[in-house]
Amino acid sequence: MGLTIKGTGMYVPDVIADNDDFAKIVDTSDEWITTRTGIKTRHITNGELAFQMGAEAARMAIKDAGIEVEDVDMVLGTTVTADCLTPSMACLVAKEIGIEDAVCMDLNAACAGYVFALDIAQKYLECGDCKTVLIVSSEIVTRMVDYTDRSTCVLFGDGAAATVVTKGDGLYSSVIKSSPQGADKIFTKLPVPENPFKTGTADWGDERMNDAPTGFMQMQGNDVYKFATTAMPQAVEAAAEKAGISLEEIDLIIPHQANIRIVQTAMKRLKMPKEKCYVNIQDYGNISSACIPLGLCQLKEQGQLKKGDKICVVGFGAGLTYGAAIFEW
Ligand code: COA
Repeated sequence: MGLTIKGTGMYVPDVIADNDDFAKIVDTSDEWITTRTGIKTRHITNGELAFQMGAEAARMAIKDAGIEVEDVDMVLGTTVTADCLTPSMACLVAKEIGIEDAVCMDLNAACAGYVFALDIAQKYLECGDCKTVLIVSSEIVTRMVDYTDRSTCVLFGDGAAATVVTKGDGLYSSVIKSSPQGADKIFTKLPVPENPFKTGTADWGDERMNDAPTGFMQMQGNDVYKFATTAMPQAVEAAAEKAGISLEEIDLIIPHQANIRIVQTAMKRLKMPKEKCYVNIQDYGNISSACIPLGLCQLKEQGQLKKGDKICVVGFGAGLTYGAAIFEW
């Protein structure tokens, strides 16, 4: 059984920071950021919360799908930067858009979150427990950005995208995977709780994690780069094999937008032409799990998706997580 992306929506904050803005706060330059990452600008929250951005994107997706909020029977939130530890962002989005009764939950698979959500949505649709799944991917990555660390702060932006997903007849396959031994390659620690009874000290079992400050993303960029350029091609190949198609049959790849050089290397390894790959990193930077659905939304709005197109979405992220899904438009 396939799936249909019935509607798409997106929301990005109005505040935009370009590379020259970053050159004023850390020792960097437009030239370095552009050549090393492909990023020119990113949108940054001006007070909008993740659930509010998600709700805007969700309203647009529901309208685009031509359905009513009552039709949604599952809301899957994907985020690593939710506004609350509890309740889930999905619950907050559902409340905001007026949903009375639906399964609402978040999943955290970092930047691969949208691919993981598609995999789960398809399974719920296939078993019949749900008929209309609203995937809301909303991230305020700047919430955990250290604006004194030039190696990470220039990479990330904020934004949201949503898709309404229903059953479909076309081709579908997805492969989701994790390499948890790389969990220390990207992480953001929460503070260890203080309480009146505590006498011990937390030990993360890892020197780097013990020493890291709380609240700010820590990343071993080179290791993540190496992982991504191997994991992305592997995931695409595995999804194509599962779907029983060749790589040549894929019409379009929408990859996670972390670094243009990662995307280009992955495409090269797949021996696929770069024209088949959608890139918007120059405008948004890395918005974690919202990158891929935001790309889908833009492509749909631009009328660039044709019925029957075989689309492959592929992501990777902290965890380390990775995966790819192939579906027919
Ligand atoms: N401006 C100027 N110089 C910078 C810089 C910046 N914004 N960030 C890092 N540098 C410097 C480093 O300090 C280092 O200087 P040194 O040689 O004096 O020590 C030099 O540039 C090279 O650093 P390096 O880390 O080797 O650069 P790189 O080419 O690997 O690019 C990343 C760094 C982070 C852009 C790259 O590794 C990357 O994209 N990794 C993947 C990250 C990712 O995808 N994360 C999200 C996962 S979802």
